[in-house]
Order: sequence, then structure tokens, then C-alpha cells
Amino acid sequence: MEAPDCTPVWLMRQAGRYMQEYRRLRRRHTFKEMCQTPEIAVEVTLQPVRRFDLDAAIIFSDILLPLEKMGVGLHFDDAQGPSLDRTLRSGRDVDALKAVDPEEDLPYLLKAIEMARTELAGTAPLIGFSGGPFTLASYLLEGGGSKHFRLTKAFMYAESNPFRLLMEKLTDMVAASLNAQIRHGAQAVQVFDSWVGALSAADYERYALPHVKRLFASLDASVPRILFGLDACHLLPLMAGAGIDVLGVDWRVPIDKVREMTGGKLAVQGNLDPAVLFGPAGHVRAEAREVLRRAGGAGGHIFNLGHGVLPETPVENVELLIAEVHEYGRRE
Ligand code: CP3
Repeated sequence: MEAPDCTPVWLMRQAGRYMQEYRRLRRRHTFKEMCQTPEIAVEVTLQPVRRFDLDAAIIFSDILLPLEKMGVGLHFDDAQGPSLDRTLRSGRDVDALKAVDPEEDLPYLLKAIEMARTELAGTAPLIGFSGGPFTLASYLLEGGGSKHFRLTKAFMYAESNPFRLLMEKLTDMVAASLNAQIRHGAQAVQVFDSWVGALSAADYERYALPHVKRLFASLDASVPRILFGLDACHLLPLMAGAGIDVLGVDWRVPIDKVREMTGGKLAVQGNLDPAVLFGPAGHVRAEAREVLRRAGGAGGHIFNLGHGVLPETPVENVELLIAEVHEYGRRE
């Protein structure tokens, strides 16, 4: 692949509540309706691309939606975030989880990808995504978000065979979904394994990594495949060996250090702290340049935040961040 003359930039959660255009639509629809109505999902996908000079679009959806088709009801509560109708408690609950056929079960997503490609008309590549197997397993075992992952780890240690089967079923679902997204037009895919950082390196290697490796080995390799984990500094060398094209990192380790830790051959995505966007303009610019400097210039670096754009983020700081990356990223 040819090195770009300028570092490309997109932002996780680039569509969402920090944008007035999103909030206006959101007043009339639930979050789920917005994801599951292709016309609305496409509109929201395009909102940030129209407003900012972004180098990629990411399809508007959520990592948890496929879990419903596996047989567990899902609600998004404005105050409390996502919650599941029931949690898995036994091997029998794992056995009862249904396989997902993306064409049958996620038609709104595949349709939205096709329509978004048409609308984008080649102006920016479209990224598809899914959750990682451990992150999805944690929602099924906790019933929602978690701080200590107590139920997840208890099940993982005590019920190692059912846990393995759960991870296998989720890996199959994620692989089928991502390959379908690629077939329908996704030009890159990202696996959000956001909560793996809760595991020690030894537990990650034993309970999660083999599934992540199988996942990446079964993906269509004709598009770039990105793996992202939050709070995962201690796992980066392992994640780098999972058969991926790009490693997505949060802001806790500078990118030059990430390169050192991972052998320097892998492309890296990240890693400005999303909270920097709440600071003054001069600070946003300086921190953006620092990320670019540490990444060592265009080539092998996709600029992003270290996690998603936060809901109250000032839009003008997003705009100047992107401008700064394009300006400084050319020279670095
Ligand atoms: O990046 C993008 O612009 C694409 C859209 C996207 C959403 N969720 C939309 C969303 C992506 C890539 C996700 C991934 C996701 N969803 C993850 C992994 C990445 C991460 O942020 O760590 C996780 C853990 C989820 C599960 C989820 N969905 C949570 C925890 C929440 C509640 C927190 C929140 O921000 O409200 C959601 C809801 C959600 N997903 C919203 C959006 C825009 C907010 C919905 C709304 O009320 O309007």
C-alpha cells in the first residue's frame, strides 16, 4: 500500500449527541429506531462527514444490537445506558443462544451500508464494526455495563467450558456480521473489544486471545481490519499478534511507546484523550501535534481519539482538531 501524504483522521463516535443535527433527530426517535431504520442510520452516518473534513465514515449502529437476535432482549435507557432483559447464568443458557444470520437478522445494517456507500460516492471510505467477543460476553453475563466484571470473571473461572462455548458462539456471530458488512460495502472493519483491559495479560491470553485470533483469521482480508481495546496497555503486545492490520489504542500510552511495545511493524490508530476537546483551542492543537509527532508522520498512523467523542464535546474543537491534523499531519 502507498503511504498517504497526510495522516488520515476519523473519530470513534463521530456521530452522536454532541452534534445538534443528531439531537434534533433523536428527539423524534429512539436510539434503536435510529439504528434500525436504514434511512435514519445513513443520515446520522453522514452528519459528521458533511460537517467536518473527515477521512472516513463509520456506519451508525451499536455493538449490542445483534445480541437481541441471539435471544436476549435489549433496552437503551437514556440515563443508565444499555441493559439486557436477562443474564446468562448457566451452560444451559449458553446452549440456548441462537446463531445469527446477518442477512436475515441484521438487514437494516446491511441495507444502511449499501445506501451509505451510494451516498458517499467515493468521497470517504465506510467503516463497518462489531463488538469483540469478550466485550459482548461481559454484557450477556452482567446484564449491562460493569465496573469490576465480577459476574463475567466468576463465570469464566468456574464454568470454563460454557464460557468457551459462549466465546465461540460470539466469535461466529461477529465473524458472520463483519464478513456480511464487507460483502455489502464496508471498506474497513473495526472490532471494539472495549472492555478487555479488565483482564490480566495472562487471563487475556488464556480466555480471550484465542477467540480474537480465530475471529481475525476468518475475516475477509481484502479490507483493513482494526482491533481496539480500552485501558489495554498491558495487552498491546498480545493484541498486536492477533492477525490484525491496525491496532487501535487509547490515550494512556504514547504512540511511539506503542510502536516499541509491538515491534514497530503494525499500523496504529489513535490516540488523543477525548477530554482534551474540552480544553482551550491552543491546547487541542498542541496535543494533536504531539500525537502526530509521536506517531512519526504520515504512514502507519490513523489519527483518532483514544475513545469515543463525549456527548458534551464542543463542536468547534472537533472542527479545529481535524483541521490541525490535516495541516500538521502533512508536514510531520
Ligand atoms: O462511532 C460511531 O460513530 C458509530 C456508532 C457507535 C455507537 N456505539 C453509537 C451509540 C459505535 C461504534 C458504538 C460502539 C459501542 N456501543 C461500544 C464500544 C465502543 C465504546 O464506546 O466503548 C459499546 C461498549 C457500546 C454499548 C453502548 N451503546 C453503550 C455503553 C451506550 C451508552 C453510553 C452512551 O454513550 O450513551 C450505547 C448507546 C449509544 N451507542 C449511543 C450512540 C450514539 C447513544 C444513544 C443515544 O442515546 O442517542
